[in-house]
Amino acid sequence: MSYYQDLVKQSQELLNQFQAERKTLNTEQLNIKYLGKKGLFNELAAQIKNLKKNEDKKEFGQILNQLKKDLEKALADSQKQKQEIYQRLDLSLPGIKQKIGHLHPVSQAIEEISQIFERIGFVRGDYPEVDWDHYVFAALNMPANHPARDEWETFFVDQAADPEMGKVVLTTHTSNGQVREMERVKGQLPIRMINISRCYRRQSNNTHTQMFHQFEGLVIDKDINIQHLKGTIDYFAKEFFGPKTKSRIRPFHFKFTEPSFEVDFSCQICGGTGFIKNENNKKVNCRFCKSGWHEVGGAGMVHPNVLKAGGIDSKKYRGFAFGWGVERSYTLKQGLNLDDIRLFYSAERDFLEQF
Ligand code: DAH
Repeated sequence: MSYYQDLVKQSQELLNQFQAERKTLNTEQLNIKYLGKKGLFNELAAQIKNLKKNEDKKEFGQILNQLKKDLEKALADSQKQKQEIYQRLDLSLPGIKQKIGHLHPVSQAIEEISQIFERIGFVRGDYPEVDWDHYVFAALNMPANHPARDEWETFFVDQAADPEMGKVVLTTHTSNGQVREMERVKGQLPIRMINISRCYRRQSNNTHTQMFHQFEGLVIDKDINIQHLKGTIDYFAKEFFGPKTKSRIRPFHFKFTEPSFEVDFSCQICGGTGFIKNENNKKVNCRFCKSGWHEVGGAGMVHPNVLKAGGIDSKKYRGFAFGWGVERSYTLKQGLNLDDIRLFYSAERDFLEQF
C-alpha cells in the first residue's frame, strides 16, 4: 500500500472510530479528541506535507475537507441527540399520572350494601351458589312441581337427584340462604343476616344477564312485625339512594312470605313526582320511572312453613325477609338508563372506567 493509500484509509477509519466513540464520550470530549488543536484530525492532516506528488496532495486535501465536514456534522448530530435526551429527562416536569384501576361497579355496590346493613347489626352470610333444590325451592314452601317455580328460569346441574334434597341447581335467587342460615344458628336466635351473592337464570337480553347479583335480608326474632320490615327498607333507601328517597310496599305474592310485598323506591331523577321539566321549562313525564316510583324487589313476613323447614318454632318467632338485584339497585342509584345491562359484564373498558 502506498503512503497515499494508507492516509486515505486512515481518514476513512477516523470517521468510523468517531461514530463508535459517540456512545462513550460526551460531545466536549469528542470535540477535543477529534477536532481539537492537537486532535486526531489535525494529526492526520499534518501528514499531507509528507506526500510527494502534487496531485496526491490535492486529492488528499479534498478528502480532508470532506472528512472535516463529516466530523463536524457527526459532532453536531451527537450534540442534538444528547439535548433531546436531556429534554426527555427534564426532572422539573410534573410526573405522568399513573392510571389506577378501581373496583368493578358491581363490587362497589356490594361493598356499599354490606356496609349499610352491617351498620344496623346485620351479619353477612355466605352460602353455596350451587345448591340443592331443597334450599332454593322446596324449603321455601315451593314443593316439587309447584308452578311458582316456573318464574325462576333455573339451570340444573347434570347430576343425579338426592332423594331428600332433590336436584342440584345454580341458585336462582339469594333466598336459598334463608333456611341455610336458620339451620346454621341451630336455634341461637335472633338472626340478622344479609346474603349478597351471584344468581343464575336462563335469561339473556338487554335487561337480563344469565349471571347477576342479589342481596337478601333475613331477620328472625320475637315480636317482629311489618313495621320492622318497612323501617329497614326505608333506612336502606335513604342510605343507598340518598336522604330524600322514599320507599313503599305493595301487596304481592311469594310462596315463602305471608303477607308478601313488592318494594318500590321513589325516583332519583324526578324526586318521586313523575314529572320533570324539559328544555323549554315545560312539565313532561319522567322517562326514567313509572309515575315517580321504581319497582325494585320483593319482601314479606317469613312464611310459617319456611320457619318450620329451618327448625324454628313459628309460634314463638317471626321474621321478615327481602331481596332484590344489585345491578338494578346500582343503575337506579347512578340514574343510569342503560340500553344494555350486559355492558357490566362485557369487559368494555370505556364503559367500566366511568364508574
Ligand atoms: N327471591 C325473590 C326473587 O328472586 C325475591 C324475594 C321476594 C326475596 C320476597 C325475599 C322475599 O326475601 O321475602 O324474585
